[in-house]
Amino acid sequence: MKNIVILISGRGSNMEAIVDTCASEQWPARIAAVVSNKASAGGLQFAASRGIATAVLDHKAFETREAFDAELARVIDGYAPDLVVLAGFMRILTEGFVRHYEGRLLNIHPSLLPAFPGLHTHQRAIDAGCKLAGATVHFVTPELDHGPIVAQAAVPVLNDDTEDSLSARVLKQEHVIYPRAVKWFVEDALDLQDGLVRHKAGAAQLLVGD
Ligand code: GAR
Repeated sequence: MKNIVILISGRGSNMEAIVDTCASEQWPARIAAVVSNKASAGGLQFAASRGIATAVLDHKAFETREAFDAELARVIDGYAPDLVVLAGFMRILTEGFVRHYEGRLLNIHPSLLPAFPGLHTHQRAIDAGCKLAGATVHFVTPELDHGPIVAQAAVPVLNDDTEDSLSARVLKQEHVIYPRAVKWFVEDALDLQDGLVRHKAGAAQLLVGD
């Protein structure tokens, strides 16, 4: 039974998808805790309603990024995680934190990395005239929004898309690929070598949505 700790900053819809899929597919895993840097994060209520431990660690109470990350790691490690899942956790992480969880820290980013790291990914894709947009699940490395790619979902960009309509189309696919990627990790189905991730049994790591 693997322990998963999920970090959120807001709505937590990806966390919900992971919690629900873990239960419905009976993964050999438990969501040990949901941790947020914001007390107002909507996802905390959902987690509590499912009987999952929750914790809040306000980054504003810390003088430095290093101090916050050190305490965050202490809180997370209290749940003995095999895997730490960033699900809309809107903090830049220190190198020390990332190294501590090397190979067991996943993130989802709402673009087809390596395109559009950072913020406002959907508007930037629309402004660039992209015909394809999407989301990426990747292992986290110290470089922001970089790291070995576990899964990607691609969707078309339509002529009349707005940031909201495109982000909704991508989010629907995030809710498919993130639980799938976490399940692969839990099943030990991923082979990570030289910065590349292959599914050991050849499962499709690309999802094309509409
Ligand atoms: C998701 O779209 C996720 O890809 C994005 O934040 C949203 C969180 O939604 N993450 C990032 O932008 C990280 N760089 P959620 O709280 O409903 O899961």
